[in-house]
Amino acid sequence: MKPYVYITRKVPESVLQPLQEIAEVGMWPHEDQPVPRDVLLKEAARAEGLFTMVSDQIDAEVLNAAPKLKVVANMAVGYDNIAVAEATEKDIMVCNTPDVLTDTTADLTFALLMASARRVVEASGYIRDNRWINWSPLLLAGHDIHHKTIGIVGMGRIGQATAKRATGFDMKILYHNRSRNEKAEQELGATYCSLDELLEQADFVVCLAPLTSETKALFSTEAFKEMKSSAIFINASRGGLVDEDALYDALKDGEIAGAGLDVFASEPIKADHPLLQFENVTALPHIGSASLETRMKMAEMTVTNIANVLNGHAPVAVVNEDLVEKKGSNASS
Ligand code: GLV
Repeated sequence: MKPYVYITRKVPESVLQPLQEIAEVGMWPHEDQPVPRDVLLKEAARAEGLFTMVSDQIDAEVLNAAPKLKVVANMAVGYDNIAVAEATEKDIMVCNTPDVLTDTTADLTFALLMASARRVVEASGYIRDNRWINWSPLLLAGHDIHHKTIGIVGMGRIGQATAKRATGFDMKILYHNRSRNEKAEQELGATYCSLDELLEQADFVVCLAPLTSETKALFSTEAFKEMKSSAIFINASRGGLVDEDALYDALKDGEIAGAGLDVFASEPIKADHPLLQFENVTALPHIGSASLETRMKMAEMTVTNIANVLNGHAPVAVVNEDLVEKKGSNASS
């Protein structure tokens, strides 16, 4: 009997063929609605593979409900929605989609930075609301980007790709990371500094670190107070890195000049979310990697990750690497 694989959201049929050849494939039929929890638990009960989204909580309850599960493949680079330690204990591989989304996410991060600095969304709304009466010297005047200082918190792949874009704008690049990134220092002229130094000096504080127990609510009341009053805060990683009440207060009290947010502590946010009352907040619905090309590559990589594991090979990208070694599989990639 073929193994069963469940996909938690509608993805294009065209990417599924390699899975359909080796497995019975079930899929939640909606593109814009998440799979209900009871359906997920029921499907997980017979699944050997789960193809998941960042919006699915694959916690201990799901893993416990899935006795046959061999692989959880997230269509994302981040995997904070998955209980990785529990999965490892149960010999379940956790896979993700790094690399294919790096440049696309860096493009969006930089677009958000530029839109926030130059008030692009606000300015577009200005015309649509029929408020443009005349040219005037300071109308919608924003902040320069070129020759300013960008402070990147989290200098991984996407951080580096964002820094690369910053070099084209003659920006000074500061970064803070768990460990030094010599490549970024040598090739991009990035300067490592403490988080405090970065917060004090950066004109743009750009959060690109993963959400972990150490980074949860890293951007706190104190952190926003350390920033310049002219600083713009950008978050293209996970909302959980930000204490949103602290961000609200910082914006209300003019402790920072604005924010560009692609992610929120709880998603989706609604139009009455307190942060959306500020005109100097540019908000996007978690679309960092959302180009057609990249989303297709992510879906294909997720399919390959599952197919490889079910075929007894190493996945293309695995989060719990120790499990690959432990299994000593006939890893081919
Ligand atoms: C999206 O947020 C991702 O982690 O890929």
